[in-house]
Amino acid sequence: MKKITLETPLIIYEEQHEMPEEYQHLMSIARKALEDAYAPYSHFYVGAAALLQDGSIITGANQENAAYPMCLCAERVALGTASMQYPNIPIKVMAITVKNPEKEVIQPAAPCGSCRQAICEMENRQQQSIILLLQGEQGPVYEISSGASILPLSFNGEYL
Ligand code: THU
Repeated sequence: MKKITLETPLIIYEEQHEMPEEYQHLMSIARKALEDAYAPYSHFYVGAAALLQDGSIITGANQENAAYPMCLCAERVALGTASMQYPNIPIKVMAITVKNPEKEVIQPAAPCGSCRQAICEMENRQQQSIILLLQGEQGPVYEISSGASILPLSFNGEYL
């Protein structure tokens, strides 16, 4: 018998200006993208901006549906758009931010489990980790080195 501990290292930027300028820029684009969310049911707005290896930036925002389980998360909208518009160009960094008009979110909101799985799939596909930057409406930014680090023991294609 042995016991192991799985760790998720985080870099926390208490102030936005502590981040590299490239990250600040990407987060500002994610914040702008959430204005394109279609969220008439939850009134919760999520924006994502993905920086690709060639410098292109792709955005995504959540797109809801009256049939609730069909709602698309911002992260997966961005991943799908990147795949279609820039096939085979790896994603380096994805910034994600949220807005709740009823309650200011001052902590980073992490991607849901399904999005973590989708980010891991993309990391496996492109053979490169995706750095994640998470921020609430304001407040600290968490930098996470990969999707895999927030989905330990994940299921992947190697089992199939
Ligand atoms: N949402 C995202 O866009 N990303 C996540 O990782 C979590 C949740 C969206 C889905 C839905 O439109 C709203 O937030 C409330 O769950």
